[in-house]
Amino acid sequence: MKDQIEKIKKEIEEFTSSTKQSVEEFRLQFVSKKGKVSTLFDQLKLVAAEEKKELGIVLNDLKKSAESKFAELQEAMESTSSNNLFDVDLTLPTTPNKTGSHHPLNLTRYRIIEIFERLGFNVEDGPEIESDWHNFTALNFPENHPAREMQDTFFVEKNPDVLLRTHTSNVQIRLMKNRKPPFRAIMPGRVYRNEAISARAHCFFHQVEGLYVDKNVGFSDLKQTLYHFAKEMFGKETKIRLRPSFFPFTEPSAEIDISCLICHGKGCNVCKYSGWVEIAGSGMVHPNVLRNCGIDPEEYTGFAFGMGIERITMLRYSINDLRLFSENDIRFLKQFKPVI
Ligand code: DAH
Repeated sequence: MKDQIEKIKKEIEEFTSSTKQSVEEFRLQFVSKKGKVSTLFDQLKLVAAEEKKELGIVLNDLKKSAESKFAELQEAMESTSSNNLFDVDLTLPTTPNKTGSHHPLNLTRYRIIEIFERLGFNVEDGPEIESDWHNFTALNFPENHPAREMQDTFFVEKNPDVLLRTHTSNVQIRLMKNRKPPFRAIMPGRVYRNEAISARAHCFFHQVEGLYVDKNVGFSDLKQTLYHFAKEMFGKETKIRLRPSFFPFTEPSAEIDISCLICHGKGCNVCKYSGWVEIAGSGMVHPNVLRNCGIDPEEYTGFAFGMGIERITMLRYSINDLRLFSENDIRFLKQFKPVI
């Protein structure tokens, strides 16, 4: 037994450790209840009485030295790991923070709002799930009239009177029904149409509706407002062109084109070699629409317009596929103004 004690004593003295794991190994071998020292204590019970006292003293010394060595190893371990804190190369470049960026559709929306706010337009909002009346009937779409089919509608199956709005024109109605004129507002929002998804069409997209109703509002106000908008949005050189068109809720109606930003009128594939690109539908609010909202068309007149935010964004940033806006591809999104 004496020999064994000597042997273990040596092992303890010679033990060196550099890792947390080996400190734990030391604990298991020499300090724990199942370790070598404890085993010797068990054997002590079998030793003859006259040797017991002397061996007991030696064994106790062994136990103490194992414990103090263990404490020493632990302390050494802790101080080296805290030393590691300063073991960093402070000259290395930092890992940059990953900040997100504004969605290009939002950037366009913010800019549109900014331009119209300066002209005294408020921003208004309305529901995306809408009644047939607000989306069609009040806007002078006759029942069962083919004009309703101009826009492929998603109806709610359980109640065909409820649908996903096909345009933001529903907000015009909500505004005029609930408040008193005059109105000067723009209404940005998401709209839905039952269309096959492609580079040029999507089942949801975004529009900004505009409405200006007051006494003596004329077509020249419409034209000048949109001309001002086009120059602010696309640059001072931009020209506009109005083409006669049809919408049930305006009379007369016009489509607004701007001179092509890419080729400046020379002709390219963006403007399909016409020199012009369409950006909005517009017109003078139809007297029936005013009447449907309880406004006297003899007293008040107004103009309205609606434009696609995707379309304007595609022109602004030369984007050629509508699907990019909703695919959430970080390689696309990170090219736009970062959020700060
Ligand atoms: N609602 C029309 C559409 O989605 C766009 C539009 C055209 C809105 C003329 C208007 C307007 O307010 O006056 O196609």
